[in-house]
Amino acid sequence: MAEALKSVPGRPGVAKPSPILVVEGVRRAFGGLVAVDVEHLEIQRSSVTALIGPNGSGKTTLFNLLCGFDSVDEGEWRIFPGSRGGGVQPGPEAEESKLGEVRLTGRQSYEIARLGMVRTFQLTKSLSLLSVLDNVLLAAKDQVGERLSRSLGRRWREIDERNRSAAMEILERFGLAHMSDEYAGALSGGQRKLLELARAVMARPSLLLLDEPLAGVNPALVESILEHLLKFPAEGMTVLFVEHSMDMVMSISDWVVCLEEGSVIAEGPPEVVASDPLVVDAYLGREE
Ligand SMILES: Nc1ncnc2c1ncn2[C@@H]1O[C@H](COP(=O)(O)OP(=O)(O)OP(=O)(O)O)[C@@H](O)[C@H]1O
Ligand SMILES: [Mg+2]
Repeated sequence: MAEALKSVPGRPGVAKPSPILVVEGVRRAFGGLVAVDVEHLEIQRSSVTALIGPNGSGKTTLFNLLCGFDSVDEGEWRIFPGSRGGGVQPGPEAEESKLGEVRLTGRQSYEIARLGMVRTFQLTKSLSLLSVLDNVLLAAKDQVGERLSRSLGRRWREIDERNRSAAMEILERFGLAHMSDEYAGALSGGQRKLLELARAVMARPSLLLLDEPLAGVNPALVESILEHLLKFPAEGMTVLFVEHSMDMVMSISDWVVCLEEGSVIAEGPPEVVASDPLVVDAYLGREE
């Protein structure tokens, strides 16, 4: 719980009382440029943790690596999924996720999602020629898998119906139910961000990695997204999100991690990190 972080000293790589994610020596270089070099990082279960850092500091690359969208040069990471959040239908990997610890190093992105870590993208990835509802259903199908649909035969229809009603419930929650039959391409930028959140929640993650969920969203929707984020931990979904606005970070985070040139230069409670000279320098340095 966020409460548990109160006793944790704010310093890079510090151990957490109940981590859901532990990252060890994760490194990725592009040619001569070291994009990510994280020695040790733990994310506390049931917290809202912000990942900050100047442009190009490696936030998106770190998400890509952790979720299997890119390969590390070195390092490993594992999750401790515990109970799953969101959605309804237990996936075929549910048994595996009951294990205390799951090593994610080298796994494919779809496997990592099934094991409970789901991310959204800085540039939204909704499929514009599918309906809003189908976009959300796709996240459920990823979970259940075609393999299961074949072996279940006529039970498949039941599962499909259950998924549809779960997807509609989630769309309702994110204020998109009235647009369920529209092409996703017809949504505004902010609504696409909400659709991405809806898809992520449909996958029943225990850890949600959100890459700039508020970027390009109008102020009314920002409020709504912030409210959703704050509710996720109580529903079994830990949140790690990237955000540039320190106001947003300060208002909703339990803990803040700052990257610079791929490494964690500071972590701690929001007010401590915001006034850390290294963090201030990192941002000022980039603005010259
Ligand atoms: N596929 C790639 N090939 C080469 N360089 C890359 C690649 N992806 C990222 N980089 C470089 O790695 C560094 C980290 O980029 P990354 O996108 O992770 O930063 P970021 O912290 O997410 O930045 P922003 O806040 O602008 O989104 C940058 O210097 C970027 O140019
Ligand atoms: Mg980025």
